[in-house]
Amino acid sequence: MRLSVIGTGYLGATHAACMAQLGHEVVGIDADPAKVAALAAGQVPFFEPGLPEVLQQALASGRLSFTTDVSAAAGAEVHFICVGTPQRASSYAADMGQVWSAVEALVPHAAAGSLVVGKSTVPVGTAAQMRDRFAQSGAHVAWNPEFLREGHAVQDTLHPDRLVIGVESAEDEQTLRTVYRALLDDGVPMLVADFATAELVKVSANAFLATKISFINAMSEVCEATGADVTLLAEAIGMDPRIGSSFLRAGLGFGGGCLPKDIRAFMARAGELGVDQALTFLREVDEINQRRRSRTVDMAREAVGGRLRDKRVAVWGAAFKPDSDDVRDSPALHVAAALHTEGADVIVHDPRAMDNARELFSHLVYADTALDAARDADVLLLLTEWRDYVDIDPAAVAEVVTERHVIDARNALDPVRWRAAGWTYRGLGRPSA
Ligand code: UGA
Repeated sequence: MRLSVIGTGYLGATHAACMAQLGHEVVGIDADPAKVAALAAGQVPFFEPGLPEVLQQALASGRLSFTTDVSAAAGAEVHFICVGTPQRASSYAADMGQVWSAVEALVPHAAAGSLVVGKSTVPVGTAAQMRDRFAQSGAHVAWNPEFLREGHAVQDTLHPDRLVIGVESAEDEQTLRTVYRALLDDGVPMLVADFATAELVKVSANAFLATKISFINAMSEVCEATGADVTLLAEAIGMDPRIGSSFLRAGLGFGGGCLPKDIRAFMARAGELGVDQALTFLREVDEINQRRRSRTVDMAREAVGGRLRDKRVAVWGAAFKPDSDDVRDSPALHVAAALHTEGADVIVHDPRAMDNARELFSHLVYADTALDAARDADVLLLLTEWRDYVDIDPAAVAEVVTERHVIDARNALDPVRWRAAGWTYRGLGRPSA
């Protein structure tokens, strides 16, 4: 099929490359000429394992192209809207500016009978509004939320747990079945829903994941007050298949471009719909999440004797999670900046995210290697659990620091190994010795 993909950020670039990989003819459209030039040259403008290979293969096949010219969408049978919906500067609500600009740009080029498919995460009700906007041109609208995780984007796109589509006709359902034929043949289930349900599936999935993380982090707070160990507690409750062990990693909590802004936008939308009470608990989920950040700063302060001023603090990790260079709402950088505000000399290392971190927090100091960051440190903080840090030899790190205090804010290091190498090890939600 001939497809257009409007917006070639994280979601759109991955979707465009993967759809071409499935055999479709795809044009990716973005307003940013630098992004378009990079993608057209086979370069992914962010770190995503496996995506450069898929992009390059798709370009070589001749089925994938990129442009800034939205008129290139004319002739496509299906148009995917993949632009971002960040949090508004002044409120919890989603900023829908990019979505409506994309729609307005597409209206003159979406032929009668073509299908406009929303993939962006949006407030419930958006699809219906969009359908009304395209009604005159005769293009139809469908909703097809995306569940890909950064760091696993290709795998999640080509082998998703499920496909969810919100459609208003059997014909539109059939069109999407043709787009995803290869996945359906592989046995991926497709759930067919109305617009509102399809939109809500996405935000409620992210709200549930955020709630699970904050639940275990709330247990962390109780563990800290009682000398219990949250990692064992999570392992034990996770063995009950009704609870499940995934997304129960206690630590510094969730960040990134999705979970934090999605739960806030969901609360804002619920308020507009008059059901704000239904989601009041998400405010608590958000607050538990923020408290882990301040608790980590408290632990660093305690480790250096009560005052951070002029203490040297090594921070391992800047990305919001490993295998990503994304620093949007990164818990690690939030903590690093808070330590700096209290007068500490903060030295940050991250295997991939330092360029992005520097753009946001130019006042922090960045080291080229994990060991360089740790040199002469009074306390070392693990804030993003990259494999490189988990595998590092604590004895080698002990050689370069001033004081052997480590705070493992992701509960990813082996306390036995670190203590054996002479370190005072503290994990979030774990007993101190
Ligand atoms: C999340 C969802 O997992 C995807 O399904 C969804 O498609 C995506 O948002 C989106 O809306 O686009 P992502 O933001 O890539 O994906 O990251 P996650 O893997 O969900 O991690 C989010 C945050 O939670 C990270 O900061 C991570 O460190 C933290 N986390 C995760 C925990 O603190 N504990 C856990 O047990 C799991």
